[in-house]
Amino acid sequence: VVDPAPGRSIVLIGLMGAGKTSVGKRLAARLGRPFVDSDHEIEEAAGQDIPSIFATLGEGAFRDGERRVIARLLTGAPKVIATGGGAWMNAQTRAAIEKDALSVWLDAKLNTLHARVAGKPGRPLLDGQDANQVLERLIAQRYPLYEQADVRVLSTAGANHETMVDRILRAI
Ligand code: S3P
Repeated sequence: VVDPAPGRSIVLIGLMGAGKTSVGKRLAARLGRPFVDSDHEIEEAAGQDIPSIFATLGEGAFRDGERRVIARLLTGAPKVIATGGGAWMNAQTRAAIEKDALSVWLDAKLNTLHARVAGKPGRPLLDGQDANQVLERLIAQRYPLYEQADVRVLSTAGANHETMVDRILRAI
């Protein structure tokens, strides 16, 4: 595959359940680039998982760590970077990605997201909440900003990961 964004990282954005991590891993493999996941990097740096970061340090500390981790990931060799769903909502993070990387929004419908995340652990925003309601609210808040990504790719319910990679490579 000819590298579609030579010298620049490719950053995947979108809501929880859009497929950023699983599709990102395969995209990186196809392009022969390293893959990194900002949630995972934050967990490594904090020495605890995301639910406990939210519980012990609070969401504000998580967002701050997320901003710093993504700034660091954007330096150095071009990668495929999967971000947490809220990363793009931070103006500084968004500006850093817009400056240095190619952003790809994995756009999924409410029912697709819901089927992928409801009842699964590890996502404090959904913890003890009605997943449908939370996702609906996040779609309303975030999709207008996700739309500013360089590229938008539909993450449909039936699309497997390789199909998603093909869609991304066609779109960029
Ligand atoms: C969040 C999404 C999560 C994680 C954290 C907050 C969000 O990542 O960063 O739980 O604000 O949408 P995924 O999008 O990978 O689930």
